[in-house]
Amino acid sequence: MEKIIARYSQLVMPNDLNNIGTLFGGKMISWMDIAAGKAAHRFLRGTVAEGGVTKAVDKVVFSEPVYGGEWVNFESTIVSTGVTSFVVEVKATAENPLGESRAVCEALFTMVAVKKGKEGRWKKVPHGK
Ligand SMILES: CC(C)(COP(=O)(O)OP(=O)(O)OC[C@H]1O[C@@H](n2cnc3c(N)ncnc32)[C@H](O)[C@@H]1OP(=O)(O)O)[C@@H](O)C(=O)NCCC(=O)NCCS
Repeated sequence: MEKIIARYSQLVMPNDLNNIGTLFGGKMISWMDIAAGKAAHRFLRGTVAEGGVTKAVDKVVFSEPVYGGEWVNFESTIVSTGVTSFVVEVKATAENPLGESRAVCEALFTMVAVKKGKEGRWKKVPHGK
């Protein structure tokens, strides 16, 4: 299988925090979905698919809190493929102002290749990879 890795980063701003002052978990998942989408976009390039959508999110683990002013760096890797689906592993590390990194979250995103049908609805399509 072709090795596909995508990288993506976000700065943690005040609006991203929960009411105890650390990064809101839903925000983290949203960023991870985008990070998975970047790998999906690269994976589906050159196939009949017009896009990839998130079907399932599994094995989410928040291992450490993340604080305002830190960067979160995401690395997404395609780890397995099905007929219309493929699984993207997303690993997030936080980078503090001193430049030190620590693992903070990981999850598996199952994405499905889709194409718009004649009636205008998005339908799954074999990605052929
Ligand atoms: C994605 C979608 C088009 C798939 O259509 P569907 O008819 O439900 O398709 P299936 O149930 O056959 O599943 C498609 C693939 O996902 C896999 N899958 C289904 N449920 C799954 C689950 N819970 N976990 C992991 N994989 C799953 C199936 O095994 C299949 O894989 P394969 O083709 O590689 O064998 C449809 O479910 C959909 O539009 N969902 C909404 C997507 C969305 O809005 N996401 C959020 C925004 S991106």
